[in-house]
Amino acid sequence: MFDSIEARPPDPILGLSAAYKKDTNPNKVDLGVGVYKDESGNCPVMAAVKTAERRKCDEEDSKSYIAQAGPELYIKYTSELLLGNAHPVLRDGRSSCTLAPGGSGSLRLAAEFVNNNAPGTKIYVSDPSWANHVPLLSSSGLKLELYPYYNYETHSLNFDAMMDALKSATKGDLVLLHGCCHNPCGADLNADQWQAVTDLSLKNGFTPFIDVAYQGLGDGLDEDAYGMRLMAEKLPELIIASSYSKNFGLYRDRVGAVTMVTANSESCRAVASQVVATAREIYSVPPAHGAFLVAMILDDAELTRVWNDELTEMRDRINGLRRMLVEKLKEIGVEKDFSFIQNEKGLFSFLGLSKEQVATLVNDYSIYLVGSSRINVAGINNANIDYLAQSIAKVL
Ligand code: LMR
Repeated sequence: MFDSIEARPPDPILGLSAAYKKDTNPNKVDLGVGVYKDESGNCPVMAAVKTAERRKCDEEDSKSYIAQAGPELYIKYTSELLLGNAHPVLRDGRSSCTLAPGGSGSLRLAAEFVNNNAPGTKIYVSDPSWANHVPLLSSSGLKLELYPYYNYETHSLNFDAMMDALKSATKGDLVLLHGCCHNPCGADLNADQWQAVTDLSLKNGFTPFIDVAYQGLGDGLDEDAYGMRLMAEKLPELIIASSYSKNFGLYRDRVGAVTMVTANSESCRAVASQVVATAREIYSVPPAHGAFLVAMILDDAELTRVWNDELTEMRDRINGLRRMLVEKLKEIGVEKDFSFIQNEKGLFSFLGLSKEQVATLVNDYSIYLVGSSRINVAGINNANIDYLAQSIAKVL
């Protein structure tokens, strides 16, 4: 049965790490996979995570299965981090939260849940979006439709075109939105735009499906949650797929959650039971380790402070690097205006280069970035910024 199977090329994002590792050029720069890196190019284990891990290791006396929805404290703190402590939806018992394996596992679990209950549901996905959204969501059975999002000429949001396209989304459809730090373009909705999409959802009845993978890496934990909290307050239904890969640095531990907001507490219980039943069909019960660490940190004021300080440092570093790259390109005489990079949020921005220019950066300069010219800003540091800026200037 395997004779006719053809090999697949490496993943367009994850494949870059392997290529970078193999490269022997001492000047090589890794701006590929979206992981946070510190000044020395390392993707660190956060200090609060290390402490929690030691504590957990000493305390843990069983590796038996955990509850299907995840540890109670994890559910409580995840709901509060996403929606805010005093959100009316929490007070009214209109939201459920289910631990799932990472952001991708959460997206997939929510998609499978929807498709189980309404096969072939249409989901509107931004163009561009995270490269894995399309295969991940469509292989669950959902039917994808792209909506315009980013204007590559002006390097800004194409909001009018987006709203125009979303006018066709109606009751029973999903609209995938990036909660903050849009992957791949870094251009986010502002408060008025979140309001406009919320109003459209109220009018036409579609259900927003928000992917929140970078909370805290844009403007702050609460600021980055603005749109999702607004929608949870104003709309009867909402799906949130969230991840702790980036803001807790727990990439390989696969820690995420599916949060479902429903019209009332009765439907909330029914939906939550269907979500865990869906998980049972796919992977049975969730991994526990990372979820215990998140819960332990958020349940301990001192560990929360340490984590928050480190997250703030990460965010400030990313925003500083954005400024540094724009200034450096200007300083060396590059005519193209890159100031848009400074206004964008989170790990990613498009440089706005052609496929050929990207290929030259990768092949001739050992600067690794995604084919769309998406860079992981956190891969820039004081040691590589000159080489990076000079190389960009040369390919331009
Ligand atoms: C990225 O976009 O680089 C990250 O989300 C990692 C991944 O899985 O693609």
